Amino acid sequence: MIVKEMPAPKGDRMDERINRIAALANDLTYNAEATKTYIDGAPHIKHASLRTLYGKLVVQVFDDAKKHANLPKVLDLGAGEGSVTLPFLELGAKVVAVDISNGQLDALRVKCERFGDMLEVRCEDINITLKHKSAKYDIVVLNSFLHHVPDYMGMIKEIVTVLSPYGQFFSFQDPLRYDTVGKATMTFSQLAYFSWRVFRGDVLGGIKRRIRRARGIYLEDVLHDNVEYHVIRNGVDQEDICEFFREHDFDCRVVPYFSTQSRLFQPIGALVGMKNTFAIIAQKQPVN
Ligand SMILES: C[S@@+](CC[C@H](N)C(=O)[O-])C[C@H]1O[C@@H](n2cnc3c(N)ncnc32)[C@H](O)[C@@H]1O
Repeated sequence: MIVKEMPAPKGDRMDERINRIAALANDLTYNAEATKTYIDGAPHIKHASLRTLYGKLVVQVFDDAKKHANLPKVLDLGAGEGSVTLPFLELGAKVVAVDISNGQLDALRVKCERFGDMLEVRCEDINITLKHKSAKYDIVVLNSFLHHVPDYMGMIKEIVTVLSPYGQFFSFQDPLRYDTVGKATMTFSQLAYFSWRVFRGDVLGGIKRRIRRARGIYLEDVLHDNVEYHVIRNGVDQEDICEFFREHDFDCRVVPYFSTQSRLFQPIGALVGMKNTFAIIAQKQPVN
């Protein structure tokens, strides 16, 4: 695979290099991907039950922000085609939407056109966005995004510096760290995934990649290994994230739920109370 060159950040640490490779893999993937194909692989957009859960949390987060700001400012990182930007705009927030893929942002611009000045769209790597420390946000939202960033803890540390005094970090749709998910749920989730994946083409390639990764081999120059970075490794560490926020005087809660691409398995998993995915809401508490 060809990896496009992009300017190296200052102090070229290993994590930054891996973050840039993953960002480019996302740019290549999402530019090439039709919105319809994306939605079919995005449980949080595809299933009404997950859209409802998400909507409920968005309203809670927005209502909390309204207690401290007349016009809440939202930063949507990895905004994609605007599935999160739109509800916040509809509630009356001012939104800055950032994504590395212009293809995705074109769809967002169309979808959110009517909001005019309430929306600012930036096509850039979020690592550049987060270098601007003077802008402060009441909500930083990440939907189906944390697992795309290799050094997500590094990113979260940067996000904290751009939050307003009662600012909230709100993330939705990331895989729970795999060793915290029960064996039965893990097996059921994999079965659900395969039942959906088998109709998506390149089945043999998918199986070969699975076998390679089961042997602990991840390739830097393979697109699939870099796009959904933590989905194909060990999920996202919800405990680590919550511990970080609590140590930094945030109120933090994790909301676990079940999510899969399969229309058949989604209601079953949810009905029996399985959990393989999480949202997290952390609110800054000013220190006296
Ligand atoms: C799974 S999509 C989620 C899109 C949207 N938030 C949603 O919920 O539908 C992940 C998005 O993150 C973007 N992305 C990945 N790495 C990025 C980075 N380093 N900087 C900016 N955007 C990035 C991708 O281009 C893609 O649009």
